[in-house]
Amino acid sequence: MNNELKTDYKNSLDFWNSAYKKESQDNSFENNQNWKELAPSEKFIKALSIFSNCEKVLDYGCGNGWGSIIMANLGCKHITAVDLVKNAINSTLSNIKFYNSEKSIEASLINAEWLQKEETNKYDGFFCSNVIDVVPEEIANNILKEAARVVKPNSNLIISLNFYLDTNKPSSRPYELKNNNYIYREGILRMVTRTDQEWNSIFSEYFNVEKLVHFSWPGEPIETRRLFYLKNRK
Ligand SMILES: C[S@@+](CC[C@H](N)C(=O)[O-])C[C@H]1O[C@@H](n2cnc3c(N)ncnc32)[C@H](O)[C@@H]1O
Repeated sequence: MNNELKTDYKNSLDFWNSAYKKESQDNSFENNQNWKELAPSEKFIKALSIFSNCEKVLDYGCGNGWGSIIMANLGCKHITAVDLVKNAINSTLSNIKFYNSEKSIEASLINAEWLQKEETNKYDGFFCSNVIDVVPEEIANNILKEAARVVKPNSNLIISLNFYLDTNKPSSRPYELKNNNYIYREGILRMVTRTDQEWNSIFSEYFNVEKLVHFSWPGEPIETRRLFYLKNRK
């Protein structure tokens, strides 16, 4: 990774850290009494129920921990929720408390080397939402490679991604473009945009791609966001 991209990535982590600080001050979770409402789409409830009978699931890049809380409520025994930024973990910790999920979720602030030090075949499930496509390619590839190692053979992985932004077409959302498919807003790296087929072939290097489901966030008119169902190869 060149120095410019390293700096851009570091700035994006600062951006996420500030975003979660603001969120924890707004107490946004406290308006959501029902854990099911934490999912940006009902399709997540269906996707995450794949982990209902799991013993150990990793929620990698957990943000405020909404996915972990849903998995805990769906019956998953133990969830490790980790993120690189402090305010995300602070927010996860207070949300775990709010939803009485302390027994099944362990949230920790990690560093960039944490995943490669995790035990091989430790987890029987892996969830990663909007992380793989907001980080530089080299980081994303490392996460996928290590995910394939730390997850037991035949386990399920759910990877959620943003929409594909076709940079050849006009967009209503203002953005700056670098390196062909790196999308910046106000100077902050926000997304690395790829088609469904491109992601499919990236995931296929390590996993069997079982299914791709499109969904939308509340208020979005079209289902363009992506939920990849993957299975770790034997
Ligand atoms: C768009 S947010 C998504 C958060 C959450 N998963 C969700 O779906 O709401 C991206 C998150 O990935 C985290 N992140 C970025 N790089 C990471 C890495 N290498 N390892 C773990 N987390 C990372 C950021 O700190 C941020 O919390």
